[in-house]
Amino acid sequence: MKGKTLVLTGGTRGIGKATIYKFAKHGVNVAFTYNSNKELAEDIAKDLEDKFDIKAKAYPLNILEPDEFKSLFEQIDKDFDRVDFFVNNAMIYGRSVVGGYGKFMKLRPKKGLLNIYIATVGAFVAGAQEAAKRMQKVGGGSIITISSTGNRIYIENYAGHGTNKAAVEAMMRYAATELGEYNIRVNAVSGGPIETDALRAFTNYEEVKAETIKRSALNRMGTPEDIAGAVYFLCTDDASWITGHTLIVDGGTTFR
Ligand SMILES: NC(=O)c1ccc[n+]([C@@H]2O[C@H](COP(=O)([O-])OP(=O)(O)OC[C@H]3O[C@@H](n4cnc5c(N)ncnc54)[C@H](OP(=O)(O)O)[C@@H]3O)[C@@H](O)[C@H]2O)c1
Repeated sequence: MKGKTLVLTGGTRGIGKATIYKFAKHGVNVAFTYNSNKELAEDIAKDLEDKFDIKAKAYPLNILEPDEFKSLFEQIDKDFDRVDFFVNNAMIYGRSVVGGYGKFMKLRPKKGLLNIYIATVGAFVAGAQEAAKRMQKVGGGSIITISSTGNRIYIENYAGHGTNKAAVEAMMRYAATELGEYNIRVNAVSGGPIETDALRAFTNYEEVKAETIKRSALNRMGTPEDIAGAVYFLCTDDASWITGHTLIVDGGTTFR
């Protein structure tokens, strides 16, 4: 893994942050994006370089504008000599999900739902296309989208996100089927509830947390590091025949 390059969206917090630290620890150079937290992102890049003797750089990106992926990757081309891994991780929240995060009868097809579609499926498609072009030049690579078990089990107010996570998993399988000939593997890591800012923003956060601990065979919430480990595994040669697959990392919560 040493000397390879990871591109990841949304590296400032939660699962994205844990993932870039995981890869950097193993000698992987890291290009990651932020949306609102520029200063935090630059501090993280410096910390990664100081701690792990790798190259790390933060770039602005708004996943509601998937056209930005083109210029993002052009910038990355100037700073890094190759792209080996791409992780579609960032997710919108707050005002942009109004009409998409809520009960079924409150959903608004265009405003909220369309935003979540663009930020989930649109960002995966645009980012993976740019990444795949670079991966072809180095003989292959690994693309991962972060999904959630909320597309398989009911989570209150999660219909908009859950349906788009199901959609991005389906898109992942199409990408895997067509990119295999370039030795590019494409997979999803589907997380159960993970302790991050995104989950703490749920209106029923305490309830979700208690229920997760109760349902988990391991009697605890998921951590960002639990997901980062699975993402890392899928990028290593140990996962060399795994493609078009969704790896569920849920502490056993989905079955119960
Ligand atoms: N937490 C869970 O329970 C859970 C479970 C399963 C799957 N997931 C999935 O895991 C992924 C990461 O979630 P998380 O919980 O780690 O989230 P998080 O801690 O809230 O972090 C969200 C990240 O997305 C970035 N972001 C926000 N709005 C953006 C925009 N418009 N354009 C580009 N980037 C934007 C943020 O950047 P700034 O800080 O710069 O704003 C931040 O880096 C998501 O795909 C989520 O659906 C989460």
